[in-house]
Amino acid sequence: MSRMFVPGPVDVDDEVLQAQAQPMIPHRSKEFEEIFRRVSEKAQQLFFTRYRVLLSASSGTGFQEAAVRNLVNKKVLSCVNGAFADRWYDVAVSNGKKAQKLAFEWDEPVDPGRVAAAVKAGGFEALTIVHNETSTGMQNPVKEVASAVRAVAPDTLILVDAVSSLSGAKIEMDAWGLDMVLTSSQKAIALPPGLALAAVSDRALEKAKTVENRGWYFDLLLMEKHRLKDSSPATPAMSLIFALDRQLDRILAEGLEKRFARHSAMAKRVQEWADAHDLSMYAPEGYRSQTVTTVKNERNIDLSDLNTFLKQRGMRIANGYGPLKNITFRIAHMGEIQMGDVDTLLEAMEEYLQK
Ligand SMILES: Cc1ncc(COP(=O)(O)O)c(C=O)c1O
Repeated sequence: MSRMFVPGPVDVDDEVLQAQAQPMIPHRSKEFEEIFRRVSEKAQQLFFTRYRVLLSASSGTGFQEAAVRNLVNKKVLSCVNGAFADRWYDVAVSNGKKAQKLAFEWDEPVDPGRVAAAVKAGGFEALTIVHNETSTGMQNPVKEVASAVRAVAPDTLILVDAVSSLSGAKIEMDAWGLDMVLTSSQKAIALPPGLALAAVSDRALEKAKTVENRGWYFDLLLMEKHRLKDSSPATPAMSLIFALDRQLDRILAEGLEKRFARHSAMAKRVQEWADAHDLSMYAPEGYRSQTVTTVKNERNIDLSDLNTFLKQRGMRIANGYGPLKNITFRIAHMGEIQMGDVDTLLEAMEEYLQK
């Protein structure tokens, strides 16, 4: 099977693809409600939460919008050290919120001390942070940020984008005190695109009750009202939910800790390979993603030529994102990718570099 080492959409297991081919049943039926309920219950384990997991027929950006639209009346602090954090800031501004950007260099992690200082000064209702910046391969210290914020402004809601890490890296929503953690189907969970998942705390839903103009499609309170009846306000993405049901069984059968360890071992393998080839990582040590490694293109590799070479072998990697195009390249190792696949890729890259 060919492998895509790109950070989404990723390869989907055949059995999971097949699950989508199940015949339709009415979504307002006992049969489907049972599936909807068990999927959201199983998904709670991925988030390490006792709170509800909501499903949306959208990509992850839909829940970025829902987060700011439902949980902020006015002021939100956006921690920005990459393209997707910046997009979340734009989403907040375009939803009419007073968003303040707390900017870091893209090759620096979000600093808990600076976040705490900004929150202490600012009267923010919430802050947004990206756990795994897919544009840079940075894993931000969300646990430490949450704890620093709690110490100075305990009422600030902590909203986390875990689009490219959830199920590939451990994110303990409840233990870390997070209020909304959102993700997309087409990344580490390894489903086709089109479904978003978000775990939402009780206090976040309480806050939503005080926020006006929450809209309709992404109104968290309306979603919760329907979820309590194992349903959704509008027609759910049923085929993707059938696939998620199957994929959650596969993920839980692998075991979450084993899954996290597999991702972390693959990240380490890619980092060591890069080191051995005089290529350094974009993200500093201690903050490197478990699901996507961003390597500085210090050998001026022609990345499109490299990808042409790799595609002949049924593989592909990703160029750098936005301003990092050609300056960096990204090797994703998430979802169904196994260490043997990483070895095959790195051997092919080795062959290319020796040409
Ligand atoms: C970290 C991160 N956040 C948000 C998004 C947007 O997600 P979606 O395309 O599912 O809306 C992406 C997409 O690559 C991402 O990597």
